[in-house]
Amino acid sequence: MTHWQSLSAVSKTALAVARVRADESAAGNALFDDPYAEAFLAACGEPARLPRDWGPLAVALRFQTVIRTRFYDDQLLQSGCDQVVLLAAGLDTRAYRLSWPSGTRLYELDLPPVLEFKHRVLAAQSAGSRCDRTAVPADLLSTTWADRLVDAGFDPGRPAAWLVEGLLVYLTADEAGALLRTVGELSAPLSRLGLERGRSGRTTLDDPSVAHITSLWKGGLGAGTAEWLEGHCWDTEAHPLDTVAAHYGRPTANPSGTGFITAVRTTR
Ligand SMILES: C[S@@+](CC[C@H](N)C(=O)[O-])C[C@H]1O[C@@H](n2cnc3c(N)ncnc32)[C@H](O)[C@@H]1O
Repeated sequence: MTHWQSLSAVSKTALAVARVRADESAAGNALFDDPYAEAFLAACGEPARLPRDWGPLAVALRFQTVIRTRFYDDQLLQSGCDQVVLLAAGLDTRAYRLSWPSGTRLYELDLPPVLEFKHRVLAAQSAGSRCDRTAVPADLLSTTWADRLVDAGFDPGRPAAWLVEGLLVYLTADEAGALLRTVGELSAPLSRLGLERGRSGRTTLDDPSVAHITSLWKGGLGAGTAEWLEGHCWDTEAHPLDTVAAHYGRPTANPSGTGFITAVRTTR
């Protein structure tokens, strides 16, 4: 049995995301309802609510996580693809909480201990997936994850909707590039991709309340993420955080220039 405390530091960041989702789900005007997020925290003996005395970066990260969760929910449901791949799925429960079109096959990839922990908690909750969900334990920095995904039933000959949520910032530029190159090789034309845009403005990372997270950041492809994708057969669209947040009725400033990218595959 996997004990959460024995997981790597980067895997534990999935629990921080679950805490934000539990906190938002309990709010009066929540942008989404994640009924399982609290169970992950309870299984670790961790509080499900966020401290209210957080520093400014912590508050900004919570905000960004809430907006991105709802934004990606909507993007995935509207993708028109019946294959969905969540890379570094962590404790994401979209398979269990969204109303997927019938026939949707959804693949979740993450490190084996994370998926084992997730399975144990969701089984105890008698959670039932609302699509054909397959967990694919894999190291996304390895050269074998693509084969594992195909062995699990993924069809690279048909379009897929890919989500890379909350991962690239924990990778170096080379690691992020290698991962996205493999995604491209598996992506038939008209496949879709969602991911975060790297920060372009000035960001202060000296907020001690989230130092256990920001100390793990390696930057990914940073502010050049969209340009990288455009150079690798993806048509991109930028979605600045402030624009998306205003759409959901939560206007904000966006000094860090953060936001999201959606992309459509043009050719293999
Ligand atoms: C911040 S969490 C995001 C989880 C999820 N996407 C979400 O938004 O709820 C980062 C996740 O990346 C996963 N991860 C980090 N490095 C990985 C790797 N090399 N292979 C697979 N998963 C990895 C961690 O285990 C963790 O679940």
